[in-house]
Amino acid sequence: MPSAKVRKIAVLTGGGDCPGLNAVIRAVAKTAMNDYGIEVWGIEDGYSGLINRRARKFDNLAVSGILTLGGSILGCSNKDNPFAQPFEKDGKLEYRNVSAECVDYIRKMEWDALVCIGGDGTMNISHKLAGLGVNIVGVPKTIDNDLAATDYTFGFNTAVTTAMEAIDKLHTTAMAHHRVIVVEMMGRYAGWLALEAGIAGGGDIILIPEIPYDINIVADYCLDRSRHGKRFSIVVAAEGAKPKGGDMVVARTVKDSPDPIRLGGIGHKLARDIEDITGLECRATVLGHLQRGGSPSAFDRILSTQFGHAAARLVGEGKFGRMVALQGHRIVDVPLEAAIAQLKLVSPDHPLIAAARSVGTCFGDQMC
Ligand code: F6P
Repeated sequence: MPSAKVRKIAVLTGGGDCPGLNAVIRAVAKTAMNDYGIEVWGIEDGYSGLINRRARKFDNLAVSGILTLGGSILGCSNKDNPFAQPFEKDGKLEYRNVSAECVDYIRKMEWDALVCIGGDGTMNISHKLAGLGVNIVGVPKTIDNDLAATDYTFGFNTAVTTAMEAIDKLHTTAMAHHRVIVVEMMGRYAGWLALEAGIAGGGDIILIPEIPYDINIVADYCLDRSRHGKRFSIVVAAEGAKPKGGDMVVARTVKDSPDPIRLGGIGHKLARDIEDITGLECRATVLGHLQRGGSPSAFDRILSTQFGHAAARLVGEGKFGRMVALQGHRIVDVPLEAAIAQLKLVSPDHPLIAAARSVGTCFGDQMC
C-alpha cells in the first residue's frame, strides 16, 4: 500500500546507545520499504549527522542481519543539539542555533519525515524540530526507562538482565569473603534500573534517588544480617542515590553536552561509609557502560521490532508529531509533548517497592 504523500524518510539514533537500536532501525526501514514503498535514509551519529550533513541511503541488505547487534549501525551522539550546538571561539565554549540549516538540509534531501530514536533529550529536540515544521515520529529508547507515556523503553530490559547477572556473580564472591559489596548502577535521576535489577538479583539493600537513604539504617541492616549468620550483603545503588538531606554524587561535567551532568561515585562513597560505621569489609563495583552494551534480550528485540514497525506505519499514514509507546500490552502512539512533559520516576509507593519490602529488602529509609 504505497503512501500518497511520504516518499522518502530518514532515521537517526540520538543520545546514548542501548541494545535494540539496530532492531528498531531494521523494523522501521523494512516496514517503510516493503509495506509503503518509502525510500529510507540513515543519518549518522544522531543529531551530529543532521548538523554536519552525513547520511546514507539504506537498501534491504544494509538493514539485514542487524537484529541481534548491540550499539547502532548509524552511530550515536549525546552531545549535539541543533538548537544549541557547542563550538569553541577564542578558547571559550559557545552555542549556536543551527536548526534553520538542519531544516534546509532536510528539505534539500527531500525527506518527508524523520524517525528519531532516543531518550528524553532526543525527544525534546525532536519536539522543537516539529515546531519548525519537520514531520517527526519518535521511538522511546533508554536503559534508564525514565520517559513518560511509555511503560517501557527498549534497552531497559537488556540492561536489567546484564546487571542482574553481575549481581549474581557478586553474590558468590561477597559470600566467600564475608564482605559487603556495593554495586553502582546507571539510571540518571530515576531508580528503575537499580530497582528492577536489585529485585531480580536479590539485592539486600536497594538505594534509589526517589527514596533518600539514612546511612545508619543501611549500616545497621548490614550488621543485623551479619549477626543473623548472613555474613555478606549486596547493596544495589542507583548512581542518583542520595542521603536524606544530601545531594547526588556528580562524577564530572561534560561541558559540550546539552545535559552536562554525569552522575557517578556513590558506590565508592557508600562502601567507605558502611565500612567506617560497621567495621565490615566493603568493596564497590561500578557496572558503568557494561549496562548499555551487548545483544538485546528477547523482550527488547520484540519491543524494538514492534516500535519500529509502528513508527513506520505512522509515517506511512502521515501521522506526525507522535511517539510510539508501550501501554500495558498495547503499542500505541502519544503526542511528543506527552513524552517530554516530565521524567518518569519511581513512586515510593510503587507495587514493586511494596513487594521488595515484603521479602525483606531494605531501601535505606527504615529498618525491615
Ligand atoms: O541515559 C543513559 C545513561 O547511560 C545514563 O544512565 C548515564 O547516567 C549516562 O547515560 C552516561 O552517559 P555517558 O555515556 O555520556 O557517560
